[in-house]
Amino acid sequence: MLQEFSSPPLHEASPCVLETERLSLRRPTLADVKAIARLANDRRIAENTRRLPHPYLQEHAVDFMRYLAAEPREIAFLIEHNFVAVGVAGLALHEADRPELGYWLGVEHWGQGFGTEAARAVIDYYFEEFDGEHLLAGARVANPASRSVLEKCGFQWTGVELHRIESLGSSTPVDRFRLSRGVWSSLKHWGRSVRRES
Ligand SMILES: CC(C)(COP(=O)(O)OP(=O)(O)OC[C@H]1O[C@@H](n2cnc3c(N)ncnc32)[C@H](O)[C@@H]1OP(=O)(O)O)[C@@H](O)C(=O)NCCC(=O)NCCS
Repeated sequence: MLQEFSSPPLHEASPCVLETERLSLRRPTLADVKAIARLANDRRIAENTRRLPHPYLQEHAVDFMRYLAAEPREIAFLIEHNFVAVGVAGLALHEADRPELGYWLGVEHWGQGFGTEAARAVIDYYFEEFDGEHLLAGARVANPASRSVLEKCGFQWTGVELHRIESLGSSTPVDRFRLSRGVWSSLKHWGRSVRRES
């Protein structure tokens, strides 16, 4: 069912689990704060995300849970592989025309395609659950891995903006990307063609 941005309790409205080939994405709870803090406490993650502080302590994860409970326009999924937490992905829906995708993985889980697999699950969730016409995302200019994830998901580059990075305490250039519903739908429906020898 498509949701209007004005409908308030997004969390209660759609408490679902997203399953991919290798991953499971579910809403995090207070029981996950230890795992989240352990994974997030790495400067290589903080410096590539806008709001993660560094060092990242358990109290930051508790604050994050409280924030999620109070803010229906922020949707987060804990990413699990074989029932072990590997990262977090989510949507910030504060501005109706600027819905934003975000994600990070614990460093030991990089380089296995999990970032792309998790991002695709959240993208599908967004276009299936909401009626927005596009989804936005950003990657620091010095973050080719995230840029690659976005391009593999069909995002197109739209320009560069200066964004403040919490852990740096300063602003830095960020490549901005957009995925339209039309491109997403086209990618989803682009079935395999079969070649037969004549
Ligand atoms: C971005 C991030 C989620 C990627 O996770 P991941 O699971 O390693 O990503 P994937 O394996 O799905 O894809 C990464 C791609 O980047 C490529 N890549 C990685 N490092 C690269 C580099 N230095 N230069 C060029 N490409 C690079 C990989 O080769 C891969 O592309 P391929 O599948 O074509 O080979 C992870 O690096 C991360 O958490 N970074 C810190 C937080 C962050 O940047 N979040 C995104 C901003 S909101």
